[in-house]
Amino acid sequence: MSEQHQSNDLLGLIKQHPLHAFLAGLVAVALLVLILVVNSKPASTASFSPEAVAGRIQKVGAVEIRDANRAARSGEEVFKAQCTNCHTAGLVGAPKFGDAGAWGPRIAKGYEALLTSALKGKGAMGPQGGGDFADFEIGRGVAYMANAAGGKFAEPKDPNAK
Ligand code: HEC
Repeated sequence: MSEQHQSNDLLGLIKQHPLHAFLAGLVAVALLVLILVVNSKPASTASFSPEAVAGRIQKVGAVEIRDANRAARSGEEVFKAQCTNCHTAGLVGAPKFGDAGAWGPRIAKGYEALLTSALKGKGAMGPQGGGDFADFEIGRGVAYMANAAGGKFAEPKDPNAK
């Protein structure tokens, strides 16, 4: 049997029985679907890769707090946004806001030493007090708290201010 002959047979069969044409079409569609499914598999698994998942999570979690266009915060704003969490009640050994006795010896170390502690963290206090501010804003928070407890530090200026 030649190939020519075979395909003629198939055509003849399809012509005789329209149902066979329908079945042939069905098989072709099924094959196509199968190919599509098999091909799309790696792509859909890839979207669950740790990198892809991390990327999606990050979009939700990483809020851009340090927006270059937002107004620089005052010491009081920084304090109310972050530092108050521990320093108002004196949590986890934090010197209490307005407590001259607790702040006195610290203020005596000088502004730079306090700023360094606030920026890098100290004891139970994380870097930036756990917040996300520009360094000079942390400096303002330090000055605000220290001055409320007897310090006389100048509020640092915004280096980007024109
Ligand atoms: C998670 C609680 C917590 C938060 C929030 C926090 N602090 Fe503190 N802070 C502490 C603790 C605890 C200490 C005492 C650390 C020590 O002396 O071991 C402290 C100490 C300090 C000191 C004195 C450091 C020194 O060298 O004596 C400064 C200044 C300070 N904090 C500034 C800030 C500023 C500014 C913020 C807000 C941006 C802030 N803190 C937010 C817990 C916190």
